Amino acid sequence: MTPHTHRSLLLCISLISVLCLAVGLPLSFRLGEDGSSHLFWFWCIATVCVLIGVGAILLYEEMRLGKLQQQVARQTEELKKSEEKYRSLVESTEDFIFTVDATGHFQSLNSFTANFFGGTPSQFIGEPLSVLFSEEVAAQQLRLVRVVFEFRKSVRDEFMVTTGEHQAWLSANFMPVKDEQGKVVSVLCIARDITENKKLENQLVNTEKLASMGTLAAGVAHELNNPLGVMLGFTDLLLEKLAKGSQDYEDLKIIERHSLHCKEVVENLLSFARQEEGVSEYCDINEAINNIINVVRHSLEMKNIDLRFDVAPHLPRVGGDSRQMQQVFLNLVNNAAAAMKGGGILEIKTALSPGQDKVLITVRDNGHGIKEEHMENIFDPFFTTKSEGEGTGLGLFVSHGIVTKYGGTIVCESSSQDGPQGPQGTVFTVTLKAKEGDEL
Ligand SMILES: Nc1ncnc2c1ncn2[C@@H]1O[C@H](COP(=O)(O)OP(=O)(O)OP(=O)(O)O)[C@@H](O)[C@H]1O
Ligand SMILES: [Mg+2]
Repeated sequence: MTPHTHRSLLLCISLISVLCLAVGLPLSFRLGEDGSSHLFWFWCIATVCVLIGVGAILLYEEMRLGKLQQQVARQTEELKKSEEKYRSLVESTEDFIFTVDATGHFQSLNSFTANFFGGTPSQFIGEPLSVLFSEEVAAQQLRLVRVVFEFRKSVRDEFMVTTGEHQAWLSANFMPVKDEQGKVVSVLCIARDITENKKLENQLVNTEKLASMGTLAAGVAHELNNPLGVMLGFTDLLLEKLAKGSQDYEDLKIIERHSLHCKEVVENLLSFARQEEGVSEYCDINEAINNIINVVRHSLEMKNIDLRFDVAPHLPRVGGDSRQMQQVFLNLVNNAAAAMKGGGILEIKTALSPGQDKVLITVRDNGHGIKEEHMENIFDPFFTTKSEGEGTGLGLFVSHGIVTKYGGTIVCESSSQDGPQGPQGTVFTVTLKAKEGDEL
């Protein structure tokens, strides 16, 4: 029964009742005693009609209520299912999702966010942002939350979070959550871990920086080389004229020493710039390293350094000029020796990669290691922690240039103190392309 028929039924009952009264009353007056019996019958019919009508309406209302209840139950169920679906979607995602109020207190957060910070969602609800993020990051986020509340628009930003020893970069989007009237009631934040992208970005910047520094350094070195040669030449001439031990002689010797240091810097830079001029395309890396070892063996012994050379036999030749490769490994060995002032163990190992297409050379020392804040600078030109006169800071810069020119890689892992990352010390791993089908 539709509301329309329901209304029609009501109208019929009212009409019948009114009709009964309208016809019954005058008829009963006109017909005298007979009339009262007719009136009685009219009243009876009217009452029955009204009773039937009311009964029908009650029945109808009951049916309608039942249907409504069913409908509400069905819709509640559907709503529950859809809520479950979205909840599991939010819960299973590996993004940071949370909502905060205007004062920056958590209203909700997904398990991923809570687990990342070592807790459960209920633990953090009602707490301020600073309970998960550092004071600085929380203040930055609160500023964004206020902007969203004020301008009712989404804002995006990046920030760094720290948990224990781990650091992660997050890219976050803060969005307004509005009520039916369009008023912002809270702010939804969805953030994603972009640490890997950041690292790649930095690597790219570093590579570009190295390339442009290389070009610049080569130009400067070229300009300085000739005047330096002239200065050293004339210093030599003057030294010959002066009596050894005289004040002038000693002064000139200082000039000569510093000029030689400059020459060393310039030669390093020039060798970097001349990298295209490698003589041979391939070299026997075991032999190249052996040549270096023969040169440094004695001085390492003097420094109490135990040298262990673990050679993989029958290695294929690798892409790279032998002389330049010697330069790379001489610098790695010298660096390792400088890090083990009181003695230590220097281990050089060559091996074929599992895919047999590369040769890996590791140079490992147990010296003082490299501080974490220096790690991203060690390949930069002129970066050195050595005191003046001990290092130019070009060794790794030049080595990196040589290795990458031949399609290889050079990576460094270091620990400046014993810890879960490993024992104190440094490992440089140089990977070079093996010559196809070559075996010595
Ligand atoms: N094995 C190592 N152990 C500890 N620190 C290292 C090691 N290798 C490199 N370093 C750090 O990296 C810096 C840069 O090294 P790089 O070889 O480029 O320059 P340098 O050795 O200081 O000077 P140069 O090689 O030009 O004489 C070093 O000063 C040192 O701080
Ligand atoms: Mg060096």
